[in-house]
Amino acid sequence: MVPLPRLRWLLVVLVALSACSNLGTPTFAPTPTSTPSPTPEPPIDAFTMNQRLARTVNISNALEAPNEGEWGVTIKDEYFQIIYDAGFTAVRLPVRWSAHALKQAPYTINPAFFQRMDHVVNQALPQGLAVIVNMHHYEEMALDPKGHQARFIAIWQQIAEHYKSYPNALLFEPMNEPNGAVVASVWNKLLEATLPVIRLTNPTRNIVIGPADWNDLRGLDELVLPADDQHIIVTFHYYQPYQFTHQAAEWVQGSASWLGMEWKGSSPEKQYVQYDFKIVAQWAKENQRPIFLGEFGAYSKADMDSRARWTAFVAREAEKQGFRWGYWEFCSGFGVYDPINNKWIQPLLKALIPDST
Ligand code: BGC
Repeated sequence: MVPLPRLRWLLVVLVALSACSNLGTPTFAPTPTSTPSPTPEPPIDAFTMNQRLARTVNISNALEAPNEGEWGVTIKDEYFQIIYDAGFTAVRLPVRWSAHALKQAPYTINPAFFQRMDHVVNQALPQGLAVIVNMHHYEEMALDPKGHQARFIAIWQQIAEHYKSYPNALLFEPMNEPNGAVVASVWNKLLEATLPVIRLTNPTRNIVIGPADWNDLRGLDELVLPADDQHIIVTFHYYQPYQFTHQAAEWVQGSASWLGMEWKGSSPEKQYVQYDFKIVAQWAKENQRPIFLGEFGAYSKADMDSRARWTAFVAREAEKQGFRWGYWEFCSGFGVYDPINNKWIQPLLKALIPDST
């Protein structure tokens, strides 16, 4: 056993050492301002903006990896034309901002990362696609939201400042799938603290916000939004039946035993989805908010016929309810596009956009 006084000294030395190592932490130069929109546009309300998200695809496993490319996807400039030509209207960009900002105040975002983001956004917007930039996989928030709140807000303050003169077609989404310790009450408080900071520089930019508990529709009732803010689009994610959509997903424990589960489109299977979507539609009506189904998809381990049937059914039901949708995802494990052979996976593309040419 280490005697107590010596333990205390050990602690003092450790604290001093960690303070020294902070001194060596790089600090980034001030963030450069990115290309502004040449003519300021009139604001667009959330319902009108949501129309632009009618057929969205998530470009995932790229910018939300610790570093782009590490999860097998590097976004190519030509993707945006390919996506637009297939009939999509928007892209959602999952981004791990937390991996590219200083750990200590002022939590500066690495300018080189901002430049990469600018490049990607500036490829997508001129193509006629709306772009949602989100905050994805800030995993430390789920463990210690209090300890990370200042950093979270500072990151958003910088993103907001950086993109303040971008066109309406750029949207922000403060956090993908709040979970863990970010329970509904914590999420509501965090939004209450973050939204005014974003609004200082982006008073009318549309912001996509979903409920706690992984953006599950059952969290909607607990979501508190500023009543007077008419530039909020409400989002939820849908992966039901989970055992079907996540069969043999490597990151879901126990999912190997679900392999082989089909989705045949039987009446009970369809009613399940319809029942869920009615809950969302009812909430939307009562709360007067537009709805964006920001993620839905079935992993590639499921059989293609079932995937296509499920995808088509969910997309059409969403449309019937007036929701706009975002498929998860473009060219990785749930992908609708094969990046090796440079071609669309036709059954999935047709399921999403039946008249795609
Ligand atoms: C997660 C991804 C996951 C997907 C489907 C996303 O929100 O960030 O890691 O692949 O949901 O489970």
